Amino acid sequence: MKILVLHGPNLNLLGTREPEIYGSLTLEDINTKLIELGMEVQAEVVCRQSNHEGALIDALQDARTWANGVVFNPGGYTHTSIALRDAISAIGIPVIEVHLSNVYAREEFRHVSMISAVCRGKIVGLGWRSYTLGLQALVEILAEK
Ligand code: DQA
Repeated sequence: MKILVLHGPNLNLLGTREPEIYGSLTLEDINTKLIELGMEVQAEVVCRQSNHEGALIDALQDARTWANGVVFNPGGYTHTSIALRDAISAIGIPVIEVHLSNVYAREEFRHVSMISAVCRGKIVGLGWRSYTLGLQALVEILAEK
């Protein structure tokens, strides 16, 4: 089983970016946890990050050729990007939306997600655990098939 973990804009700054909201782990720390969890559940985890909407779309389209599913934190593009939503719809593999922070306890513009309706499920507000729980759920869902 192969899983893409895709991180959107500004998540490369984790560790130093508003740690009171996003926690103190770096992106590398989170990726290491995900790769380790992947080994435990026999899933190969590939992690990518981009600050660019088009590059995220390219990564999703590319995932269609090699991955069984995607764990995706689109960062700020969550709230704006119809193009990312279309890419998720187009690729036909399950995508789990994850957010470190509880977007519903924050500004109103963060309450809207352009992508939730086309994702298999969504985990928010649990810090880095949103990613590990998302990965665990995705692996279980794929194993059921
Ligand atoms: C985020 C929440 C978004 O609103 C924000 O723009 C981010 C990170 C999260 O993981 O909590 O960049 O996706």
